[in-house]
Amino acid sequence: MATNRTFTMIKPDAVESNSTGKIIDMIIEAGFTIKAMKLTHLNQSEAETFYAVHSERPFFGELVEYMTSGPIVAAVLEKDNAVADFRKLIGATDPAEAEDGTIRKLYAESKAKNAVHGSDSDENAEIESNFHFSGREMVG
Ligand code: CMP
Repeated sequence: MATNRTFTMIKPDAVESNSTGKIIDMIIEAGFTIKAMKLTHLNQSEAETFYAVHSERPFFGELVEYMTSGPIVAAVLEKDNAVADFRKLIGATDPAEAEDGTIRKLYAESKAKNAVHGSDSDENAEIESNFHFSGREMVG
């Protein structure tokens, strides 16, 4: 995949609090184009696989339980410098440390329930996009 795409999920806390539309609006206002998007609900095995890199972390069980607790919105986004620019838009993992105006500062509840996911590298953006979407579900 080109370096101009990233992958995001609007997480269960943000979907539950009806923040989905406002978050998507911020993403589009920031210059990202949506290349794929769906509302879905991860099951246990999907969440464990998606977060396998964190399987040894003490918060893994809590993370899987949370990510399977309700629907999420998964999306592939395109923009120059997508991975870095999107991480800037969402802010630090812990909303208490996130800058003013970032999505997590505005909408996240806590470090665990932090409203949105953003890929941390081009390589993971491709892996994560392919986990959720087939090639024909992505535009362009
Ligand atoms: P994200 O960066 O999208 O992917 C890993 C997730 O693990 C992170 O968001 C948080 O939702 C969660 N996470 C990270 N650190 C902690 C922590 N210390 N306690 C609970 N959950 C965490």
